[in-house]
Amino acid sequence: MKILITGCAGFIGFHLAEKLLNNNKFRVYGIDNLNTYYDVKLKQDRLKILKKNINFNFKKLDISNFVKLSKNFEENKYDYVINLAAQAGVRYSITNPDTYFENNISGFYNILEVSKKIKIKHLIFASTSSVYGEQSKWPLKENFNTDKPLSFYAATKKINEVMAYSYSNIYKLPCTGLRFFTVYGPYGRPDMALFKFVKNINSAKRIKLYNNGNHYRDFTYVDDIVESIIRLIKKPSKEKIPFEIFNIGGSKPHHLKKTFLRYIEKILSKKAMINNLPMQMGDIFKTHADTKKLQNKINYKPKTNLKNGINNFIMWYKMYFKK
Ligand SMILES: NC(=O)c1ccc[n+]([C@@H]2O[C@H](COP(=O)([O-])OP(=O)(O)OC[C@H]3O[C@@H](n4cnc5c(N)ncnc54)[C@H](O)[C@@H]3O)[C@@H](O)[C@H]2O)c1
Repeated sequence: MKILITGCAGFIGFHLAEKLLNNNKFRVYGIDNLNTYYDVKLKQDRLKILKKNINFNFKKLDISNFVKLSKNFEENKYDYVINLAAQAGVRYSITNPDTYFENNISGFYNILEVSKKIKIKHLIFASTSSVYGEQSKWPLKENFNTDKPLSFYAATKKINEVMAYSYSNIYKLPCTGLRFFTVYGPYGRPDMALFKFVKNINSAKRIKLYNNGNHYRDFTYVDDIVESIIRLIKKPSKEKIPFEIFNIGGSKPHHLKKTFLRYIEKILSKKAMINNLPMQMGDIFKTHADTKKLQNKINYKPKTNLKNGINNFIMWYKMYFKK
């Protein structure tokens, strides 16, 4: 079985590829354009680890290049595709909507089109909890209205879901969209709160706390995301329109200042110096995933406790930056 992971040098793609390579049932292919949104060295270091396994095949490729992507798919005839390549980040999309359009909309169209052409058995793609926008009821269920994204990033992911649905309907391409809730863990993204907070607290610099830290986030440990994806691979929808959406979240929202930040301070044994800032445009007050649908499908729900997860991240951070 051949499986392609797009965005394999990224945070989640790397962890997924590593786990699949240990699993032996799949031949793992990865593509990534190694863009410079954040430190490329981190992406290259992740790749270095993956390349130690002789069963890993990497190609530097941009999913927004239809001709090259098409050629790659024709040559390799993948069975399964997991699309994680995207321009991520809510805040960056305020100033750079064009890159979101190109990578997340045009790029994803290319993925759909080439997956259809070679008759992929199952296309799994990353969506986000951001599609929920502002809601007044929690936990967030997959069938809630998602027509009012608060950021262009969220809009591009909602568009992905809608585009995929139409390909499932017309071409019977089995598609599953996954709404990830604030993913964290070792080798995590430098643009996300955990990385930035640990970095600044550790070097006695101020951290920026939006909305005075009065947000709630449903943090999800990366291993729980990976386990869920692996259990879903061979389970495409069997419905007439083979399309499904699942939340993948820790299902336990935490207060950013009172819990998340306190845990970091405790583990680092250092106090944060805080710059309180107003709520950012595009930001959501609270995320909280309902994961019953996921549980019913794969008999699994994210289980890593936040404190242990943060501890694992900090252990990795200290080890990685000591080198
Ligand atoms: N990390 C989270 O909390 C989170 C939450 C919700 C959704 N997501 C989604 O999950 C997916 C993976 O996120 P991540 O946190 O690993 O991000 P990441 O930025 O670490 O990984 C994305 C990877 O895709 C690559 N990439 C971007 N555009 C590409 C293109 N056009 N062609 C080929 N490669 C390209 C990047 O170089 C990067 O290595 C993304 O789609 C993201 O939007 C992540």
